[in-house]
Amino acid sequence: MNPKLLFWIPALLRLTFLFVFAGLCWWMAGLAAGLGVALLLVLLQLYLQLSYLGQLSAWLDDSHSAKLPDGWGAWTDVFSRLYRLRRDDERSQAELTEWLARFRQAMHLLPDGVAIMDDVLFLEWCNPAAERHLGLTLERDRGMRVTNLVRHPDFIDYIILGRYEQPLTLSLRDRKLICQIIPFENRRQILVTHDATENARIEEMRRDFIANASHELRTPLTVIVGFLEIASSTPDLDPASRQAHLLLMTEQGRRMQRLIEDMLTLSRLESVDYPMRPEPVRIGALVEEVLQEARALSGGQHQVSASVDGPDISGSAEELRSAFGNLASNAVRYTPAGGSVQLIWKAGPDGPQFVVKDTGIGIDQSHIARLTERFYRVDKSRSRETQGTGLGLAIVKHVLLRHRATLTIKSEAGKGSCFTVTFPGR
Ligand SMILES: Nc1ncnc2c1ncn2[C@@H]1O[C@H](COP(=O)(O)OP(=O)(O)O)[C@@H](O)[C@H]1O
Ligand SMILES: [Mg+2]
Repeated sequence: MNPKLLFWIPALLRLTFLFVFAGLCWWMAGLAAGLGVALLLVLLQLYLQLSYLGQLSAWLDDSHSAKLPDGWGAWTDVFSRLYRLRRDDERSQAELTEWLARFRQAMHLLPDGVAIMDDVLFLEWCNPAAERHLGLTLERDRGMRVTNLVRHPDFIDYIILGRYEQPLTLSLRDRKLICQIIPFENRRQILVTHDATENARIEEMRRDFIANASHELRTPLTVIVGFLEIASSTPDLDPASRQAHLLLMTEQGRRMQRLIEDMLTLSRLESVDYPMRPEPVRIGALVEEVLQEARALSGGQHQVSASVDGPDISGSAEELRSAFGNLASNAVRYTPAGGSVQLIWKAGPDGPQFVVKDTGIGIDQSHIARLTERFYRVDKSRSRETQGTGLGLAIVKHVLLRHRATLTIKSEAGKGSCFTVTFPGR
């Protein structure tokens, strides 16, 4: 039904009832009584309307704490509709607050920086990542011009040129940032920043790796090509020299083989899905194999011993053999004849441990942090002499990473080294 009718019909009915009652009084007790009753009832109505109006006015002043009355007549409907309105309003307010809180939290957790600026680049708001990336403090810098806050010539050029469809790469505060400005609404712009330092570092590592690998391969190749040229230009080379050249070429060829094998191992370790599928590894047999290999490498020049007193673990037996073998071969190769090498498998306080101890040349403290970098060697010529590729500890690091194990190196130049691998405890 029409809402107007819904209001007017009961109102008119109530009025009719009032006059009918007054008419009844008139009929029963005379005109004066009838008029008196009518006046009384009209006054009562007026009082009721005014008092509800007063209550409504008070409620409007303080609609959150004051309570709405139930009302009488048309007021019942008005009050209940107002009450419903307020409840809906409170509900959407609460929803909005919740959304805002969620949005704030998301912005807090976002690894990328977001800064909102007006059309003339005055900072209005930014998230913590933007504060970190650009060196801002929202409290302090709100309302300042972003070009005054980020004083980098490339950034200023970017703003002046206004080619915002292209991102800008900035070197700022020792980090590589990718920035982009996105205009939105009519008079606002968003500055988005992404920290690409890690990507740039990986890219640089790749470049270094290729440069190093090429360099490492070039040296033996130069030797081989040199001897081949001698052989082809001097057909009457004496057999003894020829034999010596062949021997050197074979040695250099083997060196290239070792390099390529290690590079392939590294690339395999990197490309295999992480984490690997673990299998039970019989450590006793594995350490025994590593021990035999180390003894063969030493050729009886060192005292090489092993002890196994710890639980078996699960992992990749092949990868672990390669990692343990690398540590053991380093110990033999960097320990002068007469020294000793110990391989120990034991149950450590934080989990099972594999320890390789030697009494060799040791490592100066300044080198220790960089030993697991690819091609990093303390003494290049010594590493080559002993058939090193400079990739052994990089392989060890990768294998351990895949087994969630850690490597600690304790060493002192001239006093020997101790490499400890700690596997996660149960
Ligand atoms: N047990 C050790 N004693 C002394 N120096 C070591 C030992 N193990 C590793 N190093 C040093 O760490 C460098 C890197 O080791 P690694 O990655 O295995 O390469 P390499 O092929 O040279 O052995 C070595 O060149 C050597 O200088
Ligand atoms: Mg090595």
